[in-house]
Amino acid sequence: MIIGLVKEIKPQESRVGLTPNGVAAYNAAGHRVLVEAHAGEGSGFSDDEYRKAGGEIFDSAKAVWDASQMIVKVKEPIAPEYPFLREDMILYTYLHLAADKPLTEALLKAKTKGVAYETITDEYNGLPCLTPMSQIAGRMAVAQGAKYLETTYGGRGMLLAGVSGVEKGKVVILGGGTVGTEACKIAAGLGAEVTIMDVNLRRLAVLDDLFGSRVQTLYSTPENIRISIAEADVVVGAVLIPGKKAPCLITRPDLALMKKGSVLVDVAVDQGGCFETTRATTHENPVFIENGIVHYCVANMPGAVARTSTLALTNATLAPGLKIANQGLESVTAKDRHLANGVNTYKGHCTFAGVAEAFGIPYVPVAELI
Ligand SMILES: NC(=O)c1ccc[n+]([C@@H]2O[C@H](COP(=O)([O-])OP(=O)(O)OC[C@H]3O[C@@H](n4cnc5c(N)ncnc54)[C@H](O)[C@@H]3O)[C@@H](O)[C@H]2O)c1
Repeated sequence: MIIGLVKEIKPQESRVGLTPNGVAAYNAAGHRVLVEAHAGEGSGFSDDEYRKAGGEIFDSAKAVWDASQMIVKVKEPIAPEYPFLREDMILYTYLHLAADKPLTEALLKAKTKGVAYETITDEYNGLPCLTPMSQIAGRMAVAQGAKYLETTYGGRGMLLAGVSGVEKGKVVILGGGTVGTEACKIAAGLGAEVTIMDVNLRRLAVLDDLFGSRVQTLYSTPENIRISIAEADVVVGAVLIPGKKAPCLITRPDLALMKKGSVLVDVAVDQGGCFETTRATTHENPVFIENGIVHYCVANMPGAVARTSTLALTNATLAPGLKIANQGLESVTAKDRHLANGVNTYKGHCTFAGVAEAFGIPYVPVAELI
C-alpha cells in the first residue's frame, strides 16, 4: 500500500503521524511511505531521518495526498485539507467527528474511508490510541499546576514538594481514570499530599492498591469535593463520562472556599470542563485568574511536548495501521471488531452510531457495507 505522511497544518500542532521508526516498520512490511518535506520538524525528526527509514520525501502536501492510498495523520483535516479527500482513500487519524459537522459532511461527500484513532477499542474495553495522550496530559497536569503556583504567575508562591521544616503542597485530583492516575503518580512522586476522588469504587480500590498509604482515595460527592478543595493548592479536573459533556464539579461560588492563588488545572476542558469557570486556553496564553484562583485550561496539552507525544502516538497507532496496510481495510474490519469500531465513515455512509446520533443522520454498521 502507498502510505502518506503530511505535515499537520492545524494551528499550534507540532506532532506528526509517524516517527522515522514507524516509517521503517511500514517499509519493512513492503509498503511505500511518502513523506511531505519538513513533516516531522516540529517533533524534532528531520527529512534525512525519514529518508534513512525508507521514506520518499515529497515537496508538497498535495503531492502526498494525491499519490497515497492511506494517509496517516494526527489531527482531523481542517478546511484547506478537505479538497484532498477522495473515495479510494483511507484516512487514519484522530477525527472527533461528533464535534465537527463540516468535516463529517466533507468525509461523507468525498466517500472517504475515515478510521478514527479515538474510537478503536481493545480487548480490555479501552481506547488504546487515546490512552497515551491521556497519560501525557495527566503527567503534565501536576507539573503545570506546580509551575502556576509560583508567585510570578499569580499563584500562592508554594513549592508543592515543600522543604525541610515547611509543609508540602496539597493536590486534589477529581477523576481516577488514566489522566487522574498519571497525575497522582507525579504528585505523589513530588512528595505532595494527594487526594484522588472518583465515583467508581472499583477504580478507588485499584488506586488504593497502587498507591497504598501515600495517597488518600475519596468517594466523589459534592460535599467531599467542597471540603477537599478548601485545603488544596492544586486541583486537577480529570473526569470523563464517555460521550457526554463533563459534569460541573466546582461551581463559581465554590471558588470562594479555596485559598487565593491556588491553581485549577482542567484537563477535562476538551469535554467542556468540570469547573463552572473553565474556558479553553492555549499554550500561548495558558492561564487566567478568576475569583483569585489561577485557571489552566489548555485543550491540547500533549501538543506542548510534541516529540514525546509523536513517539507515544506512533507506538499506539502503528500496529492497527500496519494491519490495515497489510490486510486491507475491508478484510481486517471483517475479522477485527476492535478495528472495525474505528471506522467512522465508509463510502459515503456514517458507520459510527455516536456520530450519526449527533447529527441526526442515518447510521449503517460497517459490517453491512463490506
Ligand atoms: N486537555 C487535554 O489536552 C487532554 C488530553 C487527554 C485527555 N483529556 C481529557 O481528560 C479527561 C479524562 O480522561 P481519562 O482518559 O482519564 O478518562 P477515564 O475514562 O480514564 O477517567 C475518567 C474518570 O472520571 C471518573 N468520574 C466520572 N464522573 C466523576 C465524578 N463526578 N467525580 C469524580 N470522578 C468521576 C470516572 O469514573 C473515571 O474513572 C477526558 O475529558 C479527556 O478527553 C484532555
